[in-house]
Amino acid sequence: MCQRSCFPSHSIEEDDLMSILLIEPSKALVTIGGEDVLMYEPLALEYVAAGTADEHDVQILDMRLEPDLEGVLGLFRPDVIGITAYTVNVKTVRRLFQAIKAWRPETLTEAGGHHATMVPEDFVSPAIDLIALGEGVFTFQEIVRRRDKGEGFDGIPGLFALGEQLTPDVMGGLLCRMRYIDDAPSGALEEGWGQVVIMGAGLDTRPYRVRGVETTQVVEIDHPAAQTLKKVCLRRALGGLPAHGLFIRVDLDRQCLDDAMRSSGFQPRERICFIWEGVTQYITAEAVDATLRTISRIMGVETTIVFTYIWRGIIDGSARSQAEERIVASAHRLGLPWIFGLEPVDIRPYLAERGLLLVEDLGADEYRERYLASAGRRMNVFEGERIVLARGVGKHAQA
Ligand SMILES: C[S@@+](CC[C@H](N)C(=O)[O-])C[C@H]1O[C@@H](n2cnc3c(N)ncnc32)[C@H](O)[C@@H]1O
Repeated sequence: MCQRSCFPSHSIEEDDLMSILLIEPSKALVTIGGEDVLMYEPLALEYVAAGTADEHDVQILDMRLEPDLEGVLGLFRPDVIGITAYTVNVKTVRRLFQAIKAWRPETLTEAGGHHATMVPEDFVSPAIDLIALGEGVFTFQEIVRRRDKGEGFDGIPGLFALGEQLTPDVMGGLLCRMRYIDDAPSGALEEGWGQVVIMGAGLDTRPYRVRGVETTQVVEIDHPAAQTLKKVCLRRALGGLPAHGLFIRVDLDRQCLDDAMRSSGFQPRERICFIWEGVTQYITAEAVDATLRTISRIMGVETTIVFTYIWRGIIDGSARSQAEERIVASAHRLGLPWIFGLEPVDIRPYLAERGLLLVEDLGADEYRERYLASAGRRMNVFEGERIVLARGVGKHAQA
């Protein structure tokens, strides 16, 4: 390792110094890389080191020559570790990051270099906190500055913005759909509706942030694993579970919503607002069908349901843009494949068959017009997801 390779040039208290380790990895034996021809110095890392060495204790570990990472971690105890990589290094580097996080999870980890610039997705891993694109000197300098100040990393130029790059336009779509759905329970509350039922609630905070929501019963329905996490978060944030909440656990792919509702003591009230946001693409066609039929059985005429869906062409691959390819691949990589979709042209008859009346079906164009243009905001909105507002034909109307 370069011993004290880059000393701060002015006097700083020892305690103020962060320890920063920059690693040049070795390549796997079975690959051919530049170092098979010539062992060049880790020049790129030297530039990156120079960008922060005035303020912190920076060392470079060249693992092509010194493979003892464990020894260096034990001695130097770095707060921040950056590793550069060519394509031949990708697997090695991912393994190094895993070892680093296993050693000390709070160490900030950053991947950079040629491969990260060309295919940043390859470094998407729970063991890698940040991915820098391009030259990286100023990006890394800013990362270190913010870490030192305890600030977040959003908006650093040259940093791979995970959400927006892996799932382009999704953030804009999420914000607009949240606004649209927020208006549903608020409207329901204003009109004095009896229940708000949120299916696939995830970490949705509507039951705790919509004004006046505590005056109604909020029913959160979710997969058991997701609901367990939600309860842990709620207890941590609120000190307990709210009195106006009822929690129902159900795996819609395997269990019947009706049974789960009955066994939880759910009592449908006269007017219910159902919300099913960002869920239908994850479950089977049979589960979507059964769930909508259960809801429509429960629903009176004054009940509404708002739910999102993905265009079927995106799901089956027959009509996917390049950006949508990335979104679908990203969901797949996360172990949450998209498997169900609908065509807008089919929505009305699809709902009618299940005893529901379409009120409106809208998407990116309407979002832009309603929420962005009027506010003078420019934001990309995901075109592949739409939202449906429907109401029950109802027991009364059916009779
Ligand atoms: C992307 S999250 C959406 C969370 C929330 N509605 C939102 O928009 O922020 C997908 C939700 O669908 C739920 N989900 C996925 N598969 C499910 C299944 N088979 N049964 C019940 N819920 C499921 C997950 O538990 C998760 O809460």
